[in-house]
Amino acid sequence: MQVYALAIEKGGTGKSTLTVNLAAAFARLNFRVLVIDLDAQGHASYWLGVLSASLRPEESFLGVLNGRPLEECVRSTPEGVDLLPAHPALASIPVQLASSPNGGLFVLHDIMAQITASGMYDIVMFDLAPARGLVMAAALAAATRCIAPVQPEELVIQALKALSESVTQAQRVNHNLHGISVIRNKYQPRSAGDTAYDQLLRDLYGSQLLKTTIPVRAALRDSAGLQQSVFRYASGDANEVRNLFLDLVEELMALDGVR
Ligand SMILES: Nc1ncnc2c1ncn2[C@@H]1O[C@H](COP(=O)(O)OP(=O)(O)OP(=O)(O)O)[C@@H](O)[C@H]1O
Ligand SMILES: [Mg+2]
Repeated sequence: MQVYALAIEKGGTGKSTLTVNLAAAFARLNFRVLVIDLDAQGHASYWLGVLSASLRPEESFLGVLNGRPLEECVRSTPEGVDLLPAHPALASIPVQLASSPNGGLFVLHDIMAQITASGMYDIVMFDLAPARGLVMAAALAAATRCIAPVQPEELVIQALKALSESVTQAQRVNHNLHGISVIRNKYQPRSAGDTAYDQLLRDLYGSQLLKTTIPVRAALRDSAGLQQSVFRYASGDANEVRNLFLDLVEELMALDGVR
């Protein structure tokens, strides 16, 4: 089972966009996929059809965190992907984790061990909040790969450096964490500055930089409002974007030797 943590502290780089559409792409290829929305904003949940603010806390990831069986909290979605939704009260998880053994570092690791043993899923994806802290640490302690969506910009590259350090730290306790893969999203190098930062990304992260890049596309912006991945959203440039996500699946499968 592959466990992908979509992470980076910088907000708005495309974590939720990548989570939802990559999950849908895996599902199209008949992988059994579970999305775990770890962001109190609940964007991935919304995109997959669930308004997290209308849930009772125990119907969300919080239920599982507090010992409720996974299958009672997971729901299926029209994308063919299962979802363990977020809840606004997830905002207080760091406080709860801080008072658990080891700062809650292994809570997600333990939940992943249960899911692996159940044999129910091929792929689990965590959509993380733009924050560095206990939840990110717990996600990296449970992941097999961290995927960081970036743009060629100073502040994003600073956040990527910090994330790389967190990944290296997590690898000390999680020997299944292969490392970080960097994907350029909303990618449209135009100015000399864009090109310079793109070169910096290549210099710093060459071997970790995924070949597939996702450009700015209206389908990715507009499909969220309709609560559809680009695989169900039928207009404009959706077809081109679908193919890019299928390319991304292939690239990840080759990296991880999946199926
Ligand atoms: N390739 C793209 N083309 C067009 N719009 C995009 C693309 N990727 C993301 N967006 C838009 O950019 C915004 C931020 O994307 P998204 O919510 O996925 O980022 P995020 O990293 O999850 O943000 P946060 O850090 O707040 O969780 C959204 O409005 C999304 O629709
Ligand atoms: Mg998000």
